[in-house]
Amino acid sequence: MERQRQAPLFEALVAHQKQSQGNFHVPGHKQGIAFDPEGRKWFGAMLQIDLTEVGELDDLHQPEGVIDEAQELAAEAFGAERSYFLTGGTTAGNLALVMALCKPGEKLIVQRDSHQSIFNGCALAKVRPIYLSGKLQKNAEKLLPLRSEDLEQALAKYNDIRGVFITSPDYFGRVQPVRRLAEVCHRYGVPLIVDEAHGAHFSFHPKLPPSAMMEGADASVQSTHKMLPAMTMASMLHVRGTRVDQQRLTNGLRMIQSSSPSYPMLASLDLARRWMVAQGSSMLAELLGSLQVLRDTIASLKLVEEIPGEDPLKLTLQARNGVSGLTMFNWLRDRHVYFELADHRRLLATFSVGTTVADLRALCDRLRELDQAVAKMKATKRAPNLHVPVMSESEVCLGEPNGAQEVEVPLREALGYVAASMIVPYPPGIPLVLPGERISIESIQVIEAIIKEGGRVRGLGASFPPRVVVLQ
Ligand SMILES: Cc1ncc(COP(=O)(O)O)c(C=O)c1O
Repeated sequence: MERQRQAPLFEALVAHQKQSQGNFHVPGHKQGIAFDPEGRKWFGAMLQIDLTEVGELDDLHQPEGVIDEAQELAAEAFGAERSYFLTGGTTAGNLALVMALCKPGEKLIVQRDSHQSIFNGCALAKVRPIYLSGKLQKNAEKLLPLRSEDLEQALAKYNDIRGVFITSPDYFGRVQPVRRLAEVCHRYGVPLIVDEAHGAHFSFHPKLPPSAMMEGADASVQSTHKMLPAMTMASMLHVRGTRVDQQRLTNGLRMIQSSSPSYPMLASLDLARRWMVAQGSSMLAELLGSLQVLRDTIASLKLVEEIPGEDPLKLTLQARNGVSGLTMFNWLRDRHVYFELADHRRLLATFSVGTTVADLRALCDRLRELDQAVAKMKATKRAPNLHVPVMSESEVCLGEPNGAQEVEVPLREALGYVAASMIVPYPPGIPLVLPGERISIESIQVIEAIIKEGGRVRGLGASFPPRVVVLQ
């Protein structure tokens, strides 16, 4: 515990800044001396420690000094055997893990509603994914968690699976039965990898769900920057045991990440870990108390209601009268209250130890006003939820040219065509349509509904009405 009071990387940066008698190295701003004067007011303090691999500052790609020590402390704090600091977000960790697990043509079981980075990893590694999905609830309102028996069936059907890649928690704080899934994977001798981009805080309070490392996963990737106090793009990859080849993983990370990683970003990981170990539990306890007051207020509203989830630091709202999440999102944005994301149904807020009691009080007031405003707003027709098979095999190796010609057709006319690229509402960044999948009427309706409400969808041509690239 005493060790956890240190932040070796951050301390080394500050010591270097104090000792340096001559800066004849990159970056060119020379620790903030040469920088746009107006920008210096904002960037100044941080530029002083925006250093590179000089002096005692170690090397992210072959750590033997302060970065190694900082990563070791992180591994201890997050229950891993080894932790890697990432400066390319969880995206970088997901890409590197897929590349570490699979060679071209090999198979990986991938949760169908994964973030695009996992499918991009499959494309880079030329992997043939087997998609696994939870069932759609009877009223088709939401996907249920993955079932261990479905995973077992997939593992029994294919004897050449290199790993299983799931997401837990998802954007909305819903968790998967990680322990049960890990047990099944390990019976078949394959690693369970968890995209835990939204769960970096799980280790720090018993009222939060357990982390993937605690539940027996072989590796997890966390966007420390999303739910803990670290700089944007700062993430961590945690590994345990020998099912993931760490040499291949290190090679993958070297390929994917910059050879000039940001030291302030890395140091922010060191500090986030130190602060959360020291104060996380008490700060979270206080936050959880304040969030209960917010939730009590929401429970008393007429039209705006919470959709419960497992992570109390995520708040998902919907309107009982059918007003869309995007309409409510825009109403709040027009009053300079910014939520994380919305879709045709839901509205999502995220909280962290940076959320103050005053913020939550103001939010209570705004939500009471929203509740009254919603009564006068028009309901929108809800797009259907997609029916996805529990298990399906991609017809193509992602990223592998298959010889078919690609053409652009209007979205409206794309029914039945096989998609040539991903179509991804962003956020949350989960592809609605993957390369090699046939475009269904439901996916067209969902895409049209998102665009109509002003949402963003990547993978459509720039023209309007939207066009998609398909195989001829
Ligand atoms: C489930 C999930 N995984 C991975 C990512 C990518 O994380 P990052 O932004 O840290 O690269 C996101 C981003 O939103 C996500 O929602």
